[in-house]
Amino acid sequence: MAITYDESKKIFTLTTNNSEYQMKVDDIGLLLHTYYGKPVYGTDMSYQIVPVDRGFSGNLYEYRMDRGRSIDTLPQEFSGCGMGDYRISSVAVKAKNGSRTCDFRYKSHSIKEGKPSIPGLPSVRPCDDEVSTLVITLEDRLTGLEAELFYSVFMDKDIITRHTRFVNASDNGMILEKAASMMLDLQYGEWDEIHFAGRHCMERSVQRNRLSQDIRVISSKRGMSSHHQNPFVILCDHTATEESGSCFGMMLMYSGNHKTEIEQDQAGAVRIVSGINDENFSWNLKSGESFDTPEVIMAYSAIGLSALSHLYHRIIRENVCDRKYLDMKRPVLINNWEATYFDFNSDKIIDIAKTASELGVEMMVLDDGWFGKRDDDNSGLGDWLVNERKLPGGLRRITDEVTKMGMKFGLWFEPEMVNEDSGLFRTHPEWALRDPGRNPNLSRNQMVLDMSNSEVVDYLFDCMKKVLDSADISYIKWDFNRSVCNVYSNALEPSRQGEVAHRFMLGTYSLLDRLTKAYPDLMIEGCAGGGGRFDAGMMYFCPQIWCSDDTDAIERLEIQEGTSFGYPVSTMGSHVSAVPNHQTGRTTPLSTRGVVAMSGTFGYELDITKLTDEEKSTIKEQIKTFNRLYPLIQKGTYYRLSQGDQSEIYKAWEFVAPDGSEALINIVLKKSQANARIKNVHLKGLCADAMYRLEGTEQVLSGAALMYGGYAINLSSGDYSSAQLHFIKTT
Ligand code: DGJ
Repeated sequence: MAITYDESKKIFTLTTNNSEYQMKVDDIGLLLHTYYGKPVYGTDMSYQIVPVDRGFSGNLYEYRMDRGRSIDTLPQEFSGCGMGDYRISSVAVKAKNGSRTCDFRYKSHSIKEGKPSIPGLPSVRPCDDEVSTLVITLEDRLTGLEAELFYSVFMDKDIITRHTRFVNASDNGMILEKAASMMLDLQYGEWDEIHFAGRHCMERSVQRNRLSQDIRVISSKRGMSSHHQNPFVILCDHTATEESGSCFGMMLMYSGNHKTEIEQDQAGAVRIVSGINDENFSWNLKSGESFDTPEVIMAYSAIGLSALSHLYHRIIRENVCDRKYLDMKRPVLINNWEATYFDFNSDKIIDIAKTASELGVEMMVLDDGWFGKRDDDNSGLGDWLVNERKLPGGLRRITDEVTKMGMKFGLWFEPEMVNEDSGLFRTHPEWALRDPGRNPNLSRNQMVLDMSNSEVVDYLFDCMKKVLDSADISYIKWDFNRSVCNVYSNALEPSRQGEVAHRFMLGTYSLLDRLTKAYPDLMIEGCAGGGGRFDAGMMYFCPQIWCSDDTDAIERLEIQEGTSFGYPVSTMGSHVSAVPNHQTGRTTPLSTRGVVAMSGTFGYELDITKLTDEEKSTIKEQIKTFNRLYPLIQKGTYYRLSQGDQSEIYKAWEFVAPDGSEALINIVLKKSQANARIKNVHLKGLCADAMYRLEGTEQVLSGAALMYGGYAINLSSGDYSSAQLHFIKTT
């Protein structure tokens, strides 16, 4: 059984194939967290709680004669607030009488097969997995606030999902001011935290820091999960490597304001609290109402970071993204953005599509600028009507041509935004988020629509439906090009303005939900100025997300590697673009741009009509190579191979078939050196006793030799050179 409750010891145990999670209700009803790690086969781990009377750590009234037991030091499952636990709280609540304390005690629990969905929010799908769910209800007897803690256990996938439902079981209203999804207390260990930080055009760089007695906050208040701090955090042994050490992952399945706090306390214990960012958040909870938090996907690996990444890659591919995309070949696409920006017409788009189709490209994506008065990025957002001046004959003329070429057609939208200079804003200025009487902050000269207002969501659905019904459109690129501020909704009363940021996300998710249901064959690619909403919440609707607006192959090495810690390559939109690169000015070989872009959902983003014949034939070959290697790249197990002394010089990564039958090594030289050292790459995941042939050669080597001896690669000639080595099992 994945979930058990031992009535005599009051112990809850959640078991996956390679991990165990344990909680215990103590004699006064506190729910203590006693263990998360490698399986301990049901041992009552509460023996590890050693009573210590620490100064200035007070005692609950029932513990007053037992001063070794303080809620300031006990490992708790989900803390209340204001009762003497001075570490980070998982809740903040204001009762009707103004009181701000909450003392959660165990009330009841239930264990059920399956996994319920979360109203209004994306959550991990149970699919046909063996999943069971534990719900523990905690209550604050004085105020009547209840916290229902949901745990769903994916036994074979080593995943536990969590979320919290706050219920007002009293007769009075109350206000939630913090509502965490999860809390995790770990009493012992020397830990590093890893998070994925960055900026527009450099998302998800790996940040690894040793914990000390303080509080680390990884958060966004930009109304989006953000380029700056991804809602995915790892806690690992200070000595953990790709292949060793305990690692815990916490991935919030949410695309809005988020916050993960990590505190190392006076005793060296660590507490992690994760959920919606409580800054500017409040939620009116009337009698009988409930509030559901977003879900957190938790994973544990006892054998290092690679294995932790593999757990996330699997759950995202199989249970977060719609299952129908699991085996579906994604089209190789060409996008006109870096080819034309706003300067295009139908003939230009058809020319690009024609040349691309001759080279094997499968889909033409028309980016920003096809609608309204949109010849630059100062106007037009909100007016989702084809600009017939630019595109005479409408979209239909283009899609007819494109489909005749045997290609699919995709179209760009930025539904949640509006320009001041647009018909929509002139008609409905009250639909933009903005404080009454104050000029709004403009970014890219645009404002943010009030997605918390269902009229806005209905309007957008109708507009998009009209466009989608007007031509043969298989794909949408859904963009979001600014951070959100001036978060004030004209549709909500003053006392509810603290709800707007979360209601905004609920509105966006509902629009995505309606569209994916109304157009089941439509694929939506997420995008937010590149990877500003690269999160599991968006992945629920968008099986691929444009990874970054930085298309430079060398910068992409860092971005895609950082992204790989939590997210599979099947979610990473990645394109070959022109040189000199538009973001960095760097010139890299076309072959290297191909190698890097192939480790994602592959495509091109350049004026293909202007390339030389030689470049065109290279592209033709690249597409053939990608199509041949596609199953291995998309479904293979991904390994980062760049750790160690030469990581500044080379970046290498591998895809290996789950049965070890083939492996693809990718290596890129980041920095040319005179008289350079040779890079010896140790392959992973092969069958040690099998023989492998290097494709295109007669060289045959054992899996053991390739893994333990390695394969020496000399890439020292020329800037940014690269190689792809494909090993195929022969015996
Ligand atoms: C930002 C996206 O990331 C780009 O690819 C492009 O679609 C532009 N927006 C269009 O405005």
